[in-house]
Amino acid sequence: MYSIALDGPAGVGKSTIAKLLAERLNYVYVDTGALYRAIAVYFLDNGLNAESVSTSDDEVTVLLSQIEVEIRYIDENQHVFINDTDVTGRLRTEDVSKMASVSSALPKVRAKLLELQRDMAKKYNVIMDGRDIGTVVLPGATLKIFLTARPEVRAMRRYKQLLESGKLGDQTLEELTCEIEERDHRDSTRAIAPLKPAEDSVIIDSSELMMEEEVNLIISYLEKKIEG
Ligand code: DC
Repeated sequence: MYSIALDGPAGVGKSTIAKLLAERLNYVYVDTGALYRAIAVYFLDNGLNAESVSTSDDEVTVLLSQIEVEIRYIDENQHVFINDTDVTGRLRTEDVSKMASVSSALPKVRAKLLELQRDMAKKYNVIMDGRDIGTVVLPGATLKIFLTARPEVRAMRRYKQLLESGKLGDQTLEELTCEIEERDHRDSTRAIAPLKPAEDSVIIDSSELMMEEEVNLIISYLEKKIEG
């Protein structure tokens, strides 16, 4: 099986690139952030909140023991099920983003998801995106890519996305840039599985690249790896 580990900070366009790569290569796209978000939904539904989660250790243990997380593909799109309930439609709210950002720093949460992610790479050729895929989840990945872009470029992309979907509200570009810088800091300084490139990863700065160029570049790296 072949695997591409695609890591990088929030808002760098990993999921868009990963979907395009999956189509071009006929690989399965595994969005690991969605798994952390699904657990966050379950925590929120069961009374935890982002402020208290790190101190409610026993409750976290109990809740984690109650859940089975599953990935299923419906019309080629990834859906995440918690105890047989599809929570995919609930993953992209602000509350869930915040909870996922805090709860994904807990070792127990990360341990819960490790095997599921590795199993996917055993069964399928995968392009898996996340933060620690090249460093922790798939240290033997065929190709490891670490995608970056300057914070202001990522903020501008997010700004346009929100504007186009009518969800911008009164947020300014400066505020979005600050949020992205804060998230980067939190993700890259946490004790467990911090966001950092694997030693053998290819670092691609996408600030000045078009999406097609990024995809082509990654495919050319993959071909080189496979041809050895
Ligand atoms: O990529 P995303 O925004 O959907 O990720 C949601 C949260 O989960 C984010 O705060 C980072 C975290 N995450 C992680 O810690 N490790 C991963 N492999 C993927 C996501």
